[in-house]
Amino acid sequence: MRSTSSTSAPDLDEDQSFDYHLPQRVRVKSAFHFTPVTVARRAAQLLAPRDGMRVLDVGAGPGKFCVIAARERPTCKFVGIEQRPLLVELAQRLAHRMSAANATFLQGDALEHDWSGYDALYLFNPFGELLLRSALTIDQTVLRSQSRFEACVDGTRAKLAALRPGTRVVTYHGLGAAAPDGYELAERVQLGTDVLELWIKAAPAADDAPSAAAS
Ligand SMILES: C[S@@+](CC[C@H](N)C(=O)[O-])C[C@H]1O[C@@H](n2cnc3c(N)ncnc32)[C@H](O)[C@@H]1O
Repeated sequence: MRSTSSTSAPDLDEDQSFDYHLPQRVRVKSAFHFTPVTVARRAAQLLAPRDGMRVLDVGAGPGKFCVIAARERPTCKFVGIEQRPLLVELAQRLAHRMSAANATFLQGDALEHDWSGYDALYLFNPFGELLLRSALTIDQTVLRSQSRFEACVDGTRAKLAALRPGTRVVTYHGLGAAAPDGYELAERVQLGTDVLELWIKAAPAADDAPSAAAS
């Protein structure tokens, strides 16, 4: 979800033609809540630079990021997990219509999903909506509060911190908190209405690694 500090407009032609496939009530939310086409393409390259990589979109909406990324990196797999059943249905339809067989979608709470099977994760400020007034939300089906926002962000940082070294994380409009522990900023690109940041989990320092003598 966009933060309020907009710097430039997305590529309207491509975005309008993509958003055309969404029902009107979801389409009107796209510019604010879903990744612009140019940003999705660049994020796909940052997330999946090698063939065969597996990427999780944490909070996939109607699948805009996953479908565009899947077409950009056809040898990689993009999985989107989304809490709203209606958006999952739209995402599945969109992937089928756009022949993006390497984009798949799951319905559920991203924080209850196992993230360990992925090489990379994409987060477009997924919990920011929990702090919005109702006129700006995607719909009224999700209970919003500051405490829920904090629990989601803390849970996300804990899950990211547990992933293996080399895991790539790309954020757009941030993730709602400071970078996860143990990750290093590898790239920062101004694009769309904010910046894309690529974070890579570092190997533990020699001092932190468990030693044979200790076992
Ligand atoms: C800002 S939108 C981004 C959509 C998509 N990633 C994109 O970039 O086009 C965030 C999405 O995350 C979903 N979301 C938020 N918290 C979630 C959770 N705990 N589990 C699953 N989905 C969640 C919201 O329903 C919303 O559709």
